[in-house]
Amino acid sequence: MQSTFDETRDGFQAVRFDGRVLELIDQRRLPQTEHWLRIGDIDGVIGAIADLVVRGAPAIGVTAAYGAVIAAHQRGKDLAGWHQDMERLVQARPTAVNLAWAVARMRQLVAGQGDLDADALAAEAGRIHRADIEANRAMARAGSAVIEPGSGVLTHCNTGSLATGGIGTALGVVIEGVRAGRIARVFADETRPWLQGSRLTAWELARAGVEFQVIVEGAAAALMASGAVQWVITGADRIAANGDVANKIGTYALAVLARHHGVKMMVVAPSSTLDPAMPDGAGIAIEQRDPAEVWRAAGLEAMPAGFAAWNPVFDVTPAALVDCIVTEAGVARPPYDFSTI
Ligand code: MRU
Repeated sequence: MQSTFDETRDGFQAVRFDGRVLELIDQRRLPQTEHWLRIGDIDGVIGAIADLVVRGAPAIGVTAAYGAVIAAHQRGKDLAGWHQDMERLVQARPTAVNLAWAVARMRQLVAGQGDLDADALAAEAGRIHRADIEANRAMARAGSAVIEPGSGVLTHCNTGSLATGGIGTALGVVIEGVRAGRIARVFADETRPWLQGSRLTAWELARAGVEFQVIVEGAAAALMASGAVQWVITGADRIAANGDVANKIGTYALAVLARHHGVKMMVVAPSSTLDPAMPDGAGIAIEQRDPAEVWRAAGLEAMPAGFAAWNPVFDVTPAALVDCIVTEAGVARPPYDFSTI
């Protein structure tokens, strides 16, 4: 696969690797500061994923693949030690299957070769990255073609260049749809508590020259009732064989609202986000994060004494509420069956 990153088509390259060192833009500090971190050890890679320096399912997968290369450089011939690193890497975040998928690809390569070859692993990581760039392009084209000209769309979380290897999943469809003249209005959900929408999606859309408005989560019903949006478009962190979709907390609420208002729901994700071994969404592990994130979103330094919060950062949208799932292979409609992917 020849595909290389092209800023005019693929947006912004948020994950870079020179063969030894990973460069990540620190997404915790956007949009105020564009600060890059240089990471050359596996503990740093695991920490960057766990602490959301890099986030978004496909970007986590690409980062993990480069992490496997970095671990191989550190471990030399110590295959058992490298496998231990891979175990810890997979556990950095539980919900996005792209992480386990990328590590499994790297392990498969090592199993085939019988030893650790950092150059071969780097080539494989590059293939994973380039395939994601290509998948993003294909999904942007396929998804935007489904949208009726003149439509308004609402997106959730951040699913663009910061979250993937290329132009993005859902946000790729949005940007392509605007450029193709099919999408007339763009709304981005703020996405509490981490504010991926009002910090990261807003930053990306402004960079891409796309006009948009951010809404607070509670405004979604009123927005749909106003008739301004015809599609909700989101990404996914894991899609079960029956089409149930795990994605950023709040996606399920949007899907319920969309169905009530006659708004359609599109989920956009590469095949690396499909989990054919997971029959339905009930078995998907939902990451619970520090309750203090909820208080920080309220402008408080940490969780004040005596306060409490429940902070699941993903939810599962039943397949019955999803009108179509766009992958690089095309547009799937219900009934979904991804068991043989
Ligand atoms: O917690 P995050 O920011 O990693 O969650 C990201 C999402 O939920 C995205 O919608 C999903 O990963 C798809 S990104 C292309």
